[in-house]
Amino acid sequence: MGGGGCNSGALVMVMGLCLVVTRTAEVGSAWDAAHATFYGDMRGTGTMEGACGYGDLFEQGYGLETTALSSVLFQDGKTCGSCYEIQCHNSSQWCLNSTIHATATNFCPPNYTKSTENWCNPPLKHFDLTQPMFRKIAVYKAGIVPVVFRRVPCIRTGGIKFKIEGNQNWMLVLVYNVGGAGEVVDVKVKGSSTGWIQMSRNWGQNWQIMSNLLGQSLSFQVTASDGKMVESDNVAPDNWQFGHSYEGNQFDK
Ligand SMILES: *[C@@H]1O[C@H](CO)[C@@H](O)[C@H](O)[C@H]1NC(C)=O
Ligand SMILES: *[C@@H]1O[C@H](CO)[C@@H](O)[C@H](O)[C@H]1NC(C)=O
Ligand SMILES: *[C@@H]1O[C@H](CO)[C@@H](O)[C@H](O)[C@H]1NC(C)=O
Repeated sequence: MGGGGCNSGALVMVMGLCLVVTRTAEVGSAWDAAHATFYGDMRGTGTMEGACGYGDLFEQGYGLETTALSSVLFQDGKTCGSCYEIQCHNSSQWCLNSTIHATATNFCPPNYTKSTENWCNPPLKHFDLTQPMFRKIAVYKAGIVPVVFRRVPCIRTGGIKFKIEGNQNWMLVLVYNVGGAGEVVDVKVKGSSTGWIQMSRNWGQNWQIMSNLLGQSLSFQVTASDGKMVESDNVAPDNWQFGHSYEGNQFDK
């Protein structure tokens, strides 16, 4: 996809205007251009789980309002949990006049051996939506449409949730239902008899430490890409268990 009538690589044509493309799209950034397709069926089958490490997206509150991102948008999973407003670009005859919101939950992998339908290859910006979301912005038979999008704050019900997995020597925590910027950049954990311990990203929004805090109540500090931090004290009681989720505080609206 070229820049349409725009003469610089840093400019993109959106609704007839040349806009400067920001390197990392944060909440509040301008509309940008991309394309959208869909995967899975009308019930979202095939779109659960995914490269961000989430599980049952219905149980976790994301539902069908999710998307897989191409490499340049996915950024190795850093943008998992970020939220987008997406509209079909009216240059396509297949557009429907509506706006959707979707949370990044999966990765649309590049395929360098394909000469067609390789829209998730760098440097393309691409949303692979659930089928119900795609069909709100365009007719089914279009298959692929040009879109405009922007990052928006994530609206969530309830607090940030922490699902704890792992074993005796390793604790892996899935951080989900994150409001505000949605994109978690740092997580710290504290046991009732430890100080704050830095966690490292394992994959997607799964954060780990190489020790276990069994028998201690757990507190978390979650920092988002906008620099805001929310602390949740003693969210998991001292008898917390692997496989369970615990709910903390939420970023301000
Ligand atoms: C698309 O929208 C732009 C901006 O609102 C408008 O100027 C243009 O005429 C529209 N194009 C079509 C094909 O409807
Ligand atoms: C699209 O929908 C909005 C809001 O419902 C309406 O104001 C606008 O006129 C519609 N545009 C077109 C081209 O149908
Ligand atoms: C990539 O595309 C080729 C050609 O269509 C296909 O044979 C191959 O299975 C694809 N690879 C993956 C990982 O999907």
